[in-house]
Amino acid sequence: LADDAVAAIQAADSSKALQDVRVQFTGKKGLLNQYSKAMKDLANEEKPQLGQAISSFHAAFNEAFEARQGEIAQAELEAQLASEVIDVTRPGRQAASGSRHLLTQTREALEDLFLKMGYQVIDGPEVELDHYNFEMMNLPKNHPARDMQDTFYIDEEVLLRTHTSPVQARTMEQHDFTKGPLKMISPGKVFRRDSDDATHSHQFQQIEGLVVAENISLADLKGTLLLFAQATFGQERQIRLRPSYFPFTEPSVEIDISCFKCGGDGCNICKQTGWIEILGGGMVHPRVLEMADVDSEKYSGFAFGLGIERIAMLKHNVDDIRHFYQNDLRFLEQFKGGH
Ligand code: PHE
Repeated sequence: LADDAVAAIQAADSSKALQDVRVQFTGKKGLLNQYSKAMKDLANEEKPQLGQAISSFHAAFNEAFEARQGEIAQAELEAQLASEVIDVTRPGRQAASGSRHLLTQTREALEDLFLKMGYQVIDGPEVELDHYNFEMMNLPKNHPARDMQDTFYIDEEVLLRTHTSPVQARTMEQHDFTKGPLKMISPGKVFRRDSDDATHSHQFQQIEGLVVAENISLADLKGTLLLFAQATFGQERQIRLRPSYFPFTEPSVEIDISCFKCGGDGCNICKQTGWIEILGGGMVHPRVLEMADVDSEKYSGFAFGLGIERIAMLKHNVDDIRHFYQNDLRFLEQFKGGH
């Protein structure tokens, strides 16, 4: 019986099978019990012999059982570990990464350019006083040119700024001209009561530029904007100035950039004249200097204002300003990782 038991133990290939073997041999109804029951029928002198046989069965059984139990436990542990193994070399799930918006990239590139030329970057309020947005920009109440910029009013004196020009007045008021020239740009959102279409938006972004010091002339504006045009659109660009009108500059100019190839089908930015308008500017009106407490006899300045959307549209051949605001990933992802 011991030999049978040991063979059965060794044949068992799982903890469950091993337990079945134990029941089969040593359980209540097991094979061994039949021998134990026979004990009472034996003659006294034969009993020790059977007793010994039973205990040597137990010894052999237990030894084989424990050995096999160890092997099976080990094997089962290994199987479990193998099934739960994590392959750390497998590629991970791709995390979707965002990127800077094309308008942000365009603004930051322009900020970098002017910072390198020694300009400060100045922030101004989007909710602005009529006083700064219009009065200080030489647009008194009832001035017809106020109509150039249809305005969102909050109340009679407070409005959403229609341009970044009010930051000119705010900055000139603060600047100490005995300490040196004022050179600043001011990027930010502006608001106009326009109907949205491919080229108009009720909210867009501008960058204001202002330099005030002794002996600043239109030539300084021209040189600065030529540098801007070439840095932004390519070294072979030329610019030209056309007379224009803004109440806060005199003379006022509109600046065109020479036509350039934007590449790709439907690239339509090259007008037939070979020039395309990119921004407005001029010499700061003496009255604007005076209102901000700057001596217009001693100091002069130039100012310009550009639309960030317009620059980005020209540079990247974007045909509809609304693309910038709709957050369609198919649009945004085309400008991932750019500058
Ligand atoms: N503020 C003008 C506009 O929004 C642009 C401008 C700025 C023109 C500075 C001249 C000087 O159209």
